[in-house]
Amino acid sequence: MTGTEIQVDGTSVTVPEGASLLAAVRAAGADLPALCSDERIGPAGSCRTCLVSADGRTVAACVTPASSGTRVETATDALLHLRREAVEVIASALPPRALAEDNPSELAGVCRSLGIGPDTARGAPDRGRDESHPYVHLDRDLCIACGRCVRMCAEVQGTFALTLVGRGADTVVAPGTGGPWAESDCVACGGCVDTCPTGALTEPGPARGLTSGHHPPATRTTCGYCGVGCAL
Ligand code: FES
Repeated sequence: MTGTEIQVDGTSVTVPEGASLLAAVRAAGADLPALCSDERIGPAGSCRTCLVSADGRTVAACVTPASSGTRVETATDALLHLRREAVEVIASALPPRALAEDNPSELAGVCRSLGIGPDTARGAPDRGRDESHPYVHLDRDLCIACGRCVRMCAEVQGTFALTLVGRGADTVVAPGTGGPWAESDCVACGGCVDTCPTGALTEPGPARGLTSGHHPPATRTTCGYCGVGCAL
């Protein structure tokens, strides 16, 4: 196989030219959180939860291209400490329900894997919900502004219905049109819900209520307008 060969925790892996270190780490089977990444969209490099050591340099794996011969480490004490701190910063701004023991979200799973307990989520944001749309509900208090939904909407669906608004810790996803979700350009493809790592975006209804990792695998369909695919 042609490509780029690197070492990940002592294991040799070959990834396609131009692949990221995150792709190489995943190909090696190593466990690495990546809260602002989704392989279906371009990287943002904003959450810093995917830190690895590349030839002794600490880098965000999602935005660092794999280059031949690089030696990557993912689980040194120093990296685990940094990664845990990055996740704790994110989790601590959220309300306790974000890390409830029965919460199936990607973020809650990452916290459990790093030994970050539910009591870390001590935030008390009061940003409200947007439940105006019949198929997509937004709980702003669970939004970590990772931007995955925005990029999924733009890069995969091609709709550009979403954006991030606000500053600092108050940054949240919102319809680009500025009004309620029901009056936005959203075509209800479900891509934003599928990629959301916290459950801030959900599909209402007893048969849905789906969060990242609990949605059927996305496949291309022939709907005509949908670039995501609901797999239903
Ligand atoms: Fe790499 Fe967020 S996943 S910085």
